[in-house]
Amino acid sequence: MPPCDLLIHSASQLLTLASGPQRGDKLGHLGIIEDGAIAINDGRIIAVGPSSDLHAQFAPRSTLDASHHVVLPGFVDPHTHLVWAGDRANEFEMRIAGASYMEIMAAGGGIMSTVRKTRAASVDQLVAETRPRLDRMLAHGTTTAEAKTGYGLETQAELRQLEAIARLDAEHPITLVPTFLGAHTVPEEYKGRQEAYVDLVANEMLPAVARAASPATRHTSLFCDVFCEEGAFTVSQSRRILERARELGFGLKIHADEFVGLGGTKLAVELGAASADHLVYTPEEDIEALGRGNTVAVGLPGTPFGLGQKDYTPAGAILKAGGILALATDLNPGTTWCESMQMVIALACRYMKLTPAQAIAAATINAAQAIGWADEVGSLEVGKRGDVIVLDAPDYRHLGYRYGTNLVRTVIKSGKIVVE
Ligand code: NIG
Ligand code: FE
Repeated sequence: MPPCDLLIHSASQLLTLASGPQRGDKLGHLGIIEDGAIAINDGRIIAVGPSSDLHAQFAPRSTLDASHHVVLPGFVDPHTHLVWAGDRANEFEMRIAGASYMEIMAAGGGIMSTVRKTRAASVDQLVAETRPRLDRMLAHGTTTAEAKTGYGLETQAELRQLEAIARLDAEHPITLVPTFLGAHTVPEEYKGRQEAYVDLVANEMLPAVARAASPATRHTSLFCDVFCEEGAFTVSQSRRILERARELGFGLKIHADEFVGLGGTKLAVELGAASADHLVYTPEEDIEALGRGNTVAVGLPGTPFGLGQKDYTPAGAILKAGGILALATDLNPGTTWCESMQMVIALACRYMKLTPAQAIAAATINAAQAIGWADEVGSLEVGKRGDVIVLDAPDYRHLGYRYGTNLVRTVIKSGKIVVE
C-alpha cells in the first residue's frame, strides 16, 4: 500500500466544497461525505472519500481520528487590512457617543490616525504588532488570507507594509496574498490636492510596488485596491488607478458602496476585477452587472456590525442576479477588529440571510476565487493544498448557529498540524 503523511478519518461530515466557485443559486453546495476521510502527502491532498476506502488504500505515517467532528477546508479570508500600528479604541467610544465613521475621518482621525502610527513604525515593529493577529486568525481556522497595505500612503511607508506582509507570509503558517491600497484615503499633506495624490499613486507608487513586490510574490499574486467612496476616491480617479495597475500586471479589487453607491461595482465588473468588496448600498444595475461578470462580490458583515449600522450586503439580490458571493472579515483597526471567519459566518446568516451552507461556501471556495486562488485552496480536492480544519461540532450547521466561542479544534496547514 502506498504511504501518506496524514490520514484524517471518520469525520461525521467531511465538507469537500468540490467542483469550483459557486455562482448565484448554486451557492451552498458542500459536497458532504459522511464518515469521510482525506489523505495528505507532501503538503497536498492525494485522496478524499469514505473512511473505509481510504483505510484500504493507504498506509499512513500518522492518523487523526475525527469521529463526531466536521472536517472542512481552512477558511480563506479575502479582505483584510492586516498590517497596522496602534489602535483606535478612542474612536470606538466617539462613535458610541454619536459621531459617524466618515465624520471622524473628515476631521483628520480615522484611517489617517492609523497612517500616522504606521508611518512611524519600522518593519520589525509592524511584524511584531501583526503576528498576534495572524495567530488568532489561524486559531479560528483561517489558513489563507489577503492582506492590504494602505496605512503608509507614501511610497516608502507602503513598501514597508508590503515587506511586513512578505516576512509574515514566509514565517507564519497562514498564506498571505498581498494587495496594494495606496488609494485608501488622501493623506493630510495632500489635502485639497486630490489629483496630485492620484498622480503619485499611479505614476510613482504603482511602478515602485510592482518592482519591489515581484520577488516576494513569485508564488502568489499581487492586487491593487481603491477605496471608491464619497470623501475618498471618485469613480474616475478609481478608474485611472485601476487601469494603470492593470497595465502593470496587478489583479484588481475595489472598496465600493460601503456608505454611498457611486458606481464602483460596475467599474470593477467592466475592468474585470477579481472582486468588488463591501457592496452595502450597491445600485440595482450594478448588482445586475455582477450577475453577468466574473467579479466576486465580497460581503463584509463585520463592518456594519462593527459600526453599529443596520444595512448589510444584499446577498439575496446578488445571488438572484447570478453573482458569485464571498465573505471576509475586513479586519482593520477602524471599522471592525475581528479575526474570526466564524464570527463573519454567524453575522452573514443573521443579517445577510445566508444559510450556514451558503456562508461556508462563501468563506471557502468562493473566497479563494476572490483572490484568484481557487485552484490551490478553498476545497478538499485531490491536488490542492492540505489546508484542513476540524470542528468541535458534529454538524456543519453549528457554524453560524453558535457564535462568540471558537469551534475550531485542529488546524492543518499544508498537511501539518499547526493548531491543536
Ligand atoms: O474597509 N473603508 C475603508 N477601509 C476600511 C477601514 C479602514 C480603517 O478605518 O482603518 C474598511 O472598512
Ligand atoms: Fe476594507
